[in-house]
Amino acid sequence: PERGLVIAIDGPAASGKGTLARRLAAQFGLPHLDTGLLYRATACALLDDGRALDDIRAAVEAARGLALCDFDEARLRSRELGEASSVVAAIPQVRAALIEAQRSFAARSEGAVLDGRDIGTVICPDAAVKIFVTASAEKRAQRRALELASRGERVDYAHILEDIRRRDERDSGRSSAPLKIADDAVRLDTTDLDIEAAFAAARDIVREKAELAGKVG
Ligand code: CDP
Ligand code: CDP
Repeated sequence: PERGLVIAIDGPAASGKGTLARRLAAQFGLPHLDTGLLYRATACALLDDGRALDDIRAAVEAARGLALCDFDEARLRSRELGEASSVVAAIPQVRAALIEAQRSFAARSEGAVLDGRDIGTVICPDAAVKIFVTASAEKRAQRRALELASRGERVDYAHILEDIRRRDERDSGRSSAPLKIADDAVRLDTTDLDIEAAFAAARDIVREKAELAGKVG
C-alpha cells in the first residue's frame, strides 16, 4: 500500500480534474501525474508512425517505450488526440502496459496526485482520498472549446459537444477499467463552480479524508 498521501482524481473529459489535480498538488506539496497524457502520447506515437489505432502490437510497443518528454504538450492536448487516445485506451493490453509506471509514481514516499479515469478504481484502489469530478456535458464542451481556442485551435462548439458525448460513451462503455465512480469516492459536481470554488471544495475534501486516514493533509 501507498505510504504518503495519495489523491486520486477521476472524471469525464473537461470536468476540471486536471486543473484541480494541479492545484491540489501545489497546495499539499505533492508530485502530480496527468495519466491522460500517457494515452494521448501512445496515440500520438501511433499516428506519427502511420499505424492504425487498432494495431494492438504497435500500440503496446508505443505504450511500453513511452517518454512523455518526447511529445509537444499542445499537440497532445489537441482535439484530434483526445479522440484518438480514447480509442487506444480501450485496448486492455495498452492499459496493462501503462499500469506499472502509474503505480510506481503513486508509491513515492512523499505521496502523489494522479488524475484520469481509473485511478480510484484500478490504479490506486487504496488511495486515502478519491474525488470523482463531474459537470454537465454542455458546460464541459464550453470549457473545452474556450481552452482549445485559447491554444489557437479552430473550434466549433457543436463538434466539441459531440466529441465529448462520444468519448464519455466510449470511456464508460469499455470492458477494461471503464470510467465509473469508486464506491468510496466523493462526487464533486463543478457545473456551477468556477475554478476557485471547485478548488476550495476539493481542498476541504482532501483535508477531511486525509485526517480520517491518518495522513497529514
Ligand atoms: O482531459 P480530458 O479529460 O479530455 O482527457 P484525458 O484525461 O487527457 O484523457 C484522454 C483519454 O485517455 C480519455 O478519454 C480516456 O479514454 C483515456 N484515459 C484512460 O482511459 N484512463 C486514464 N486514467 C486517463 C485517460
Ligand atoms: O482535466 P480535465 O479535462 O477534466 O479538465 P481541465 O483541463 O482541468 O479543465 C478544462 C478547462 O475548463 C480548462 O481550461 C479549465 O481552466 C476550465 N475549467 C473551468 O473553467 N472551471 C472549472 N471549475 C474547472 C475547469
